[in-house]
Amino acid sequence: MQTLENGTIWLPEFFDRKAQENLVEIIRKTVAVAPLYTPKMPKTGKPMSVRITNCGELGWVTDKENGYRYQSTHPVTGKQWPKIPDILKTLWEELSDYPAPAEACLINFYDEHAKMGMHQDRDESNLNAPVISVSLGDACLFRIGGTTRGGKTTSFKLQSGDVVILGGPARMAFHGVDKIYPNTSTLLKKTGRINLTLRRVT
Ligand code: SIN
Ligand code: MN
Repeated sequence: MQTLENGTIWLPEFFDRKAQENLVEIIRKTVAVAPLYTPKMPKTGKPMSVRITNCGELGWVTDKENGYRYQSTHPVTGKQWPKIPDILKTLWEELSDYPAPAEACLINFYDEHAKMGMHQDRDESNLNAPVISVSLGDACLFRIGGTTRGGKTTSFKLQSGDVVILGGPARMAFHGVDKIYPNTSTLLKKTGRINLTLRRVT
């Protein structure tokens, strides 16, 4: 375990290979009922490079008209999001140090060209609970800084099975994904990276 300067907790290889395979299998089943889709940026309608879906009572979505928000249904299928799998509920119970369960799990899929610009996770009405993130598949270059845009940042490689906790002073830290390192993992059938983030929303 490593605690970074800004309070971010990094747990390299938290999940072993067997547990990672199990997680991928579960995510495949989730994606089969709640398909990945391309979200659009607020106002501009510009497509994000990641594809997303969710599980949980609430899911994070964005589109041109209504922007970033949480809602209980998939914007393409109109159906409720599938339930958060037990293994992720347990992860939240073990690591969140928060007295209520996770309500949302955002599933991001990065192909080899996808990235995510620096941002804060601030669409939750509850900012006291941490955000817990799981990386699966190809490695990425993850960047994190302080609570003001444009400040000093540190970068490190997140590998398959790593868990990151953005809690306490790091809850509002700016963070992003600069690049994916294709073919650095054999976990997924194709190149790419899956990132799961567990959140409390209300
Ligand atoms: C996110 O901030 O939603 C994703 C972070 C990551 O992919 O590691
Ligand atoms: Mn984020």
